[in-house]
Amino acid sequence: MTKPVHILVGTMTGTAQLVADELEGFLKKRGIAVDVELMDDLRAEVFAKDGLFLICSSTFGQGDVPDNARALFNDLKEKKPQLAHVRYGVVALGDRTYSETFCRGGLQFDNLLQSLGAKRIGEALICDASSGNLAEDVALDWIGGWLEEAMPHLRSAA
Ligand SMILES: Cc1cc2nc3c(=O)[nH]c(=O)nc-3n(C[C@H](O)[C@H](O)[C@H](O)COP(=O)(O)O)c2cc1C
Repeated sequence: MTKPVHILVGTMTGTAQLVADELEGFLKKRGIAVDVELMDDLRAEVFAKDGLFLICSSTFGQGDVPDNARALFNDLKEKKPQLAHVRYGVVALGDRTYSETFCRGGLQFDNLLQSLGAKRIGEALICDASSGNLAEDVALDWIGGWLEEAMPHLRSAA
């Protein structure tokens, strides 16, 4: 019996949600329990759940997290919960034409979680909307490697 994966989605125009849905399908096919939640109503307490987390967030404004991710992001910044028990992965969506702030939304989550003691599994996935590749396809190419690294944490009490 493995622990679940919680995919938390920050999106403005739905691409990150599409990516999350593809990743959900991939993981479920491998017998892993998965839930996908838009970040809108989530607060810092979501990280008290058992299991691993996948932050799937795009970037808006000038390198900001999407509007629907702001409450969760700010809540974490304010409450500063101790997240040493948390293991997570990051799928950061952006567009390289925004060269100064490329994928900063997902990467801001990564920095914040690390500052609270959480540990990232694998490298953050960077999805570039200007590359001509669909973010869903890029994510499906990546998730197998992430799952390999995540598996020991899904099986153990870590
Ligand atoms: C108004 C606007 C601002 C954006 N700002 C950034 C940015 O600062 N950095 C970045 O990497 N991408 C930026 N993007 C690109 C989006 O993050 C990218 O298209 C992403 O795939 C959208 O995902 P979503 O549909 O899940 O929101 C911006 C897009 C728009 C329309």
